[in-house]
This record gives sequence, C-alpha cells and structure tokens, in this order.
Amino acid sequence: MNILFVASEVAGYAKSGGLADVSSALPKALKKLGHNIKVVMPRYYSIDKKELKSLGEMAVPMGSLGEFWCEVFIGNMGGVEIYFIDYELYFGRANLYTDSKGLAYGDNDERFIFLSKASFELAKKIDFIVEIIHANDWHTAIMPLLLKAKYQYNKYFKNSSTVLTIHNMQHQGKFTTKIIDIAEVGWESFTSDNLEEFGMVNLLKSGITQSDVINTVSPTYAKEIKTAQFGWGLDSYLRGRELLFGILNGVDYREWSPKEDKYIVKNYSLETIEDKLICKKDLQKLFNLPTNPNIPIIGFVGRFATQKGIELISQSIWELLELDIQIVILGSGEKWAEGFFSDIAKRYPTKIASFIGYSEELAHKIEAGSDIFLMPSLFEPCGLNQIYSLAYGTLPIVRAVGGLDDTIRNFDKYTKSPNGFKFYDASKDALVGTVKWAVDTYYNNRDGFNILIKNGMKDRFDWDISAKKYEKLYKVAVYKKELESDKL
Ligand code: ADP
Ligand code: GLC
Repeated sequence: MNILFVASEVAGYAKSGGLADVSSALPKALKKLGHNIKVVMPRYYSIDKKELKSLGEMAVPMGSLGEFWCEVFIGNMGGVEIYFIDYELYFGRANLYTDSKGLAYGDNDERFIFLSKASFELAKKIDFIVEIIHANDWHTAIMPLLLKAKYQYNKYFKNSSTVLTIHNMQHQGKFTTKIIDIAEVGWESFTSDNLEEFGMVNLLKSGITQSDVINTVSPTYAKEIKTAQFGWGLDSYLRGRELLFGILNGVDYREWSPKEDKYIVKNYSLETIEDKLICKKDLQKLFNLPTNPNIPIIGFVGRFATQKGIELISQSIWELLELDIQIVILGSGEKWAEGFFSDIAKRYPTKIASFIGYSEELAHKIEAGSDIFLMPSLFEPCGLNQIYSLAYGTLPIVRAVGGLDDTIRNFDKYTKSPNGFKFYDASKDALVGTVKWAVDTYYNNRDGFNILIKNGMKDRFDWDISAKKYEKLYKVAVYKKELESDKL
C-alpha cells in the first residue's frame, strides 16, 4: 500500500517521548512488509539540514493567512524515505512544542495545521497516490477532515482512507475557532460531532469522529478510553466508534537491546547476565553513588508529568529512602518536580541521584545499570520504558493500567511466567508496599528475582508483529471506505 505517515516527532531527528520511537520503528517495519511508506515531519531547527537533500520549494495554502512557501527536504531513515517540512516561522525554534518556560507556543494550532496541509501538498509534489493517510495524535488529527473538506477531489487522494493513532488522550489540541478559516475546512465542520467542543476547536475530537478507523497503542487503553475516567471528556465519542482497536507498540531492538546498545559500558545478554553488574557499577560511578554491587538500584526515566505518577513518587520518597536501596532519576518537565528531585538528591547523595534534563545516553545507561524500574503511571497508553526494562533484565514495578497492564505479568503464584511487579491503587501505600516487596525479593528470594529477569528477557515485542496488525487496520480502513462509497 501507499502510506503517508505524518507525525510531529520521529526518533533520530526530534524526540520528546514514545511517539517519536513509534514513528521511527513502525514505518521501517511496514517497509519490510513491502509497503511504500513515506514519513513526514517538521524540520525543527535542531535537525541539521546538511544530512538532508533539498527538493526545492512548495506552496502551502493557509486559507485566511494566504499562501506560505516552505522548503522540502528528504532523508533516509534506515531505508524509509522521510520528508521534512522546513518553514522557519513555525519550526525554526529550539523546542518542539513549548518555550523555555515550558509554556506551549501560542501558535501551535497554526504550526500543526501547516504540517498537516503541507503533507497533502507534498504527496502532490512527489507524485504519490496515497491509499492510507496515517495521522498521529492531535497534531495531525485534522487530516481526515482536511481530506473530506478539501483534498478528496484531487486525483492523489481520491482513494485515500484515513487512520488515526491515538498515543495519548490527554493532549487534544484545543484552540480558538480562528483555525477554521486557516484550515479551510468550512464552518459546517464546527459541530459537536466534529471539530466543536464547548465553543472551541478540538482537533483530536475531529480526528476521532472523522477518520475511517482509529487505534490506540495497547488493547487495554483502547477499552479504558471509552470510560469517563480515561476518556478526557471524549469517552462518549469513543464509545460511539465501532472501529477502534488497540495495537501494542513494539520495540526497536536495534536501539534497545543490551546486546548491541552503543551507549552502555559493557554489552550483555541473558547468557552473560553477570556483565550487567559492570553496567551497574558504571551507573553508580556516573551518579556518584557508592559502588556497591549488592544494593538494588531503582531507576526512573520519563517526563515529569502527572501521567507518569511523579506525585506518587514524591509522596513516597521518604519511605523509600528508609529502604536499603539506591534511586536514580532522569527526567524533565513540571518545574516543581525538577526542583524536588534535584533538591532531594543533594540532601541524600548516597541514596538518590538525579539528572534533570533529556539524555538518550543516560536513559540507556539507567535501563542497563538498574535492577528495578519504576513506572507508577496514573494512565499509560502503552509505555515503552517498561518494555525496554524487560529486555535489559531490569524488573519493572508498574501500576496496572493501559499498556503497563498488558505487558507486565505480576509476580504471584497464579501468574504464568511472571516478569515484574504490579500494583493497582494509585496510592503512596500501594507504591511503597510494592517497592518493599520487590526489594525483599531481591534480598531474600534471589531465585525468584532471577526467574523474573529470565522471563522478561525472553519476552519479545517485535515491531514485525505489530506492523502486521497495522496492515490489517489499513485494510479495514480501505474496506470501510469502499463499502460506504458503494452505490446501491
Ligand atoms: P511517553 O511517550 O508518554 O513519554 P513512553 O514510555 O512511551 O512514554 O516513551 C518515553 C520515551 O522517551 C522513552 O524512549 C524514554 O527513554 C524517553 N525519555 C523520556 N524522558 C527522557 C529523558 N529525560 N531523557 C531521555 N529519554 C527520555
Ligand atoms: C504516548 C504515551 C505512551 C506511548 C507513546 C507511544 O506518549 O504516553 O504511553 O507509549 O505515546 O505510543
């Protein structure tokens, strides 16, 4: 199939979270299955254009704002063609979505309407007859509506079907109605079953109601978002959608495997698991923690956002510090949390260390050097770090939600092949109790601990399998559209 895959971030070029990992790995896996897939993203100015080839200029109609001319670049992402939309006014900035104070850029609506429209224009420019338009999250969720309102009459999109992948329901792209005339989708689309929500524009809502099929990134999250608790106000629209599926994310094992990891001091596998201790020592040295091989290290890597359970961690930290453990934290985001985790590390330097910021290298070193990985999310569409942890023989402690529930099998006597520890309540007591249980297993039931490591390291979450499911999803989108357009 001819697939146009559009995302706001792609690992290797620009990344703030798991969306980037998926946008890099899934297209490669689809290409391997024989599909003709083209990826489109912005050229943020952190991406060096020396590595890319210019395809010249292209006009993008921006309705009431007029016509904007951008430059298009092409790159090679492991055999997949990736196109970059270069428009300085929108993408010539240091960060992807927020300013230096962490506030969302005031023109994010225009920026991503521009990306969405530029993707259609790009297909025309490169003579690409599109069968599947694959949009991701709110940034490109307007593409199904753009197709219906503007592009479906064009020969390149006459037979296009649309797929929207929801990586996160929390972020929906809510803006003023100004963008309706910029997007040129017509005021008739400003209804409660399309763009409108409480008098504002909600881009994700439009994607949910207008795309041929929708999926999210784990089976459990696909069910959860139909409830008021996880639907962020759009649950009734999701309950109304029949074609809503859950496809678990995979792992790019070329990037995330202790056997080949280029960032860690010593590569290891299940057969040479004792070498993990070398990575542990390296991590302790790096973070100035006592280099004791017999004390369990608990790692955390992630955005400092409520989603990730950072309030729970901060409330639990005093009780955790009483345990015979070391804690290593890597993350950035909410300012209070940045302050909290850097202060506490200064006060208890032999027990807890933190790096506030973003570092690929440290993320890999923490996965490899820790014994336990903490992921107490309040909600988690899929979650990748717990899956990476399994591959690195680092036992995940997770809250049983979304993809965390789908990927982690609890260490209890009823569970076949357990690979980690799970808790259910979003409470400090549940978190602390489960950490104590994992730590007790480390000290007093090492055989049990090692079985979990073994089970986890044997688990495979290959993208090849998930990509085949996306292939089916694309077929459903095509059939649906065909059925709907069949005349009696
Ligand atoms: P989310 O997309 O919700 O942030 P995921 O678990 O799906 O959560 O993916 C997070 C990805 O971002 C992982 O690859 C993780 O290693 C990476 N990541 C998150 N925070 C940091 C950080 N501070 N430094 C380096 N990598 C990070
Ligand atoms: C989102 C979710 C995360 C998921 C990622 C990739 O950022 O928060 O759970 O793994 O997207 O799909």
